[in-house]
Amino acid sequence: MLIILNNKSNLDSKEFDDYYESLKNVVSKHPLILCPSSIYLTRVNGDNLLLGSQNVSSFDNGSYTGEVSARQLKSLGVEYAIVGHSERRNYQNEDNITIHQKIKELLNQNITPILCVGETKEEKENYQTIDKIYKELEESLLSLPNKDNVVIAYEPIWAIGTGNTLTREEIEDILLKIKEKYPNNKLVYGGSVNEKNIEELKDSKIIDGFLLGGLSLKIDKLKLFLEKIEEV
Ligand code: 13P
Repeated sequence: MLIILNNKSNLDSKEFDDYYESLKNVVSKHPLILCPSSIYLTRVNGDNLLLGSQNVSSFDNGSYTGEVSARQLKSLGVEYAIVGHSERRNYQNEDNITIHQKIKELLNQNITPILCVGETKEEKENYQTIDKIYKELEESLLSLPNKDNVVIAYEPIWAIGTGNTLTREEIEDILLKIKEKYPNNKLVYGGSVNEKNIEELKDSKIIDGFLLGGLSLKIDKLKLFLEKIEEV
């Protein structure tokens, strides 16, 4: 199972050092992918962690002020990168065309993209969930020869950071529909996953991992979460 820790834009410099000191000692049989703020990527060298980025430029190296390219990430040992997170779609106006470019850059550098898709509350209420997800996937993965290497992360927007989650059956229902069109991709779930609701989710045969936001920052609770999936 892939466990992806998305720190988002949290932790100042000293806080990150303290956090990382504790996280370095966390053991799990599952791969732990730490996605810190990009300014901390060079501080991660723990044997127990894989390195992930929260974002990537849609361009290769060049005159793109403020951007970090896939090539640069690769040179730091980055193996995974989140793309299409709803927070970037929402606050940075990222669209599927840009996301497609980013995925291309990552695949060119052999970095595994973690592509986030998911519906708003309104789309859910209007029964548009799967149409929205199929559109996001089709436009982002369009004619990529190695698209099977992309990890697909189902993150309902209304479940992120709210404490609201789906039941295991509801998650599996969506993931199975994704699987119909993308049978070879790893499928992970994110959205208010915690050390309690993992009890219900952990035995799923469809979910290949979890994308954790808030929980990634709380080491004690993260340890409890990892203990619960240790036998899976
Ligand atoms: P929360 O786990 O805080 O709901 O965040 C999920 C998320 O957005 C991970 O990318």
